[in-house]
Amino acid sequence: MVRALQSEIEAAVEALRAGELVAFPTETVYGLGANAADANAVAKVFTAKGRPSDHPLIVHLDSAKYIHRWVRDFPAAAKALAAKFWPGPLTLVLPKEEKVLDVVTGGQDSVAIRVPSHRVAQQLLTAFGGGLVAPSANRYGRLSPTRPEHVREELGEAVSVILDGGECKLGVESTIVSCLVEGQVRLLRPGAVTLNQLRAVVGEVAVGADEGTPRTPGSVVSHYAPSTPLEIVPADQLEARVEELSAGGARLAVLAMRLPMTTLERVSWINAGRKPQTYAHDLYANLRTLDKAAGCVRILVQEVPATEAWDAVRDRLMKAAAKSPDR
Ligand code: TXA
Ligand code: MG
Repeated sequence: MVRALQSEIEAAVEALRAGELVAFPTETVYGLGANAADANAVAKVFTAKGRPSDHPLIVHLDSAKYIHRWVRDFPAAAKALAAKFWPGPLTLVLPKEEKVLDVVTGGQDSVAIRVPSHRVAQQLLTAFGGGLVAPSANRYGRLSPTRPEHVREELGEAVSVILDGGECKLGVESTIVSCLVEGQVRLLRPGAVTLNQLRAVVGEVAVGADEGTPRTPGSVVSHYAPSTPLEIVPADQLEARVEELSAGGARLAVLAMRLPMTTLERVSWINAGRKPQTYAHDLYANLRTLDKAAGCVRILVQEVPATEAWDAVRDRLMKAAAKSPDR
């Protein structure tokens, strides 16, 4: 298991206490961390990412032990979910404690809390002894980083310390669940914890935003996007679409779940396989690779199955595709 050196953790904690930014690994994606109790430090996160300042951030804690410092209510359903999935890839949106900074919550009356399981994230949070805001460590709207070199590519100089935890195990962001109304649980963003897993713990779970649901910028239509336009194509139309688009000599990139059935020229083809966990683990790194494939005008992505195991991946692909080709 990957573990950071004590000296690296100490340097990171010192940077955080000085109001600087530290990128650290979690089991989902790399986070861009700042002291959640320091408004100036949190402001730096928005500047580094180029993220609109009213978009709320997730507060990361090493356990639920001191959660009452951040939330004024911890409903039974939320407690049951925390007991089952923390530490792990689940974020709970809860009524915020008064002192939680507006710059963290986007001025809303709720706060998102997550207890990550990655060993290095745990080491850092425990040594820091407080809450860390940590959005994915990428430029706003772009692909989330799942390796330390992605963070360097995305944010470089803006980050004082990048803790190296190797590749993230899961590869897509946490499942976000809102527990603001007693007895009501609502899925806001699909992730590694599936709807059925949530239902097995709390019974009924509503899906998607409704009126009065807090803002989740991860849910603005275009997000998690490569710079090359991305198009989702049914499995049986991949080769035909490649031939159609490359007829004029254009280069294409393909993210598929199988090998090509014919020999295709001028195509960078990645076979990401048929296992949802492996596919998710490699998703952002594969899109980064294809995004860089020299001269490619479009990334074609094979449509993934319409089953629950693929919910998180499908959600991210649809958001990546929502970026229209002429932007
Ligand atoms: O897996 C993850 O959750 C990663 C790692 C680093 O922990 N973090 C992450 O953060 O994905 P970010 O900022 O990229 O996405 C956080 C999402 C956003 O869609 C944000 O709007 C939502 O959480 N969020 C934060 N506070 C919220 C609140 N009070 N109500 C509703 N949504 C909230
Ligand atoms: Mg993000």
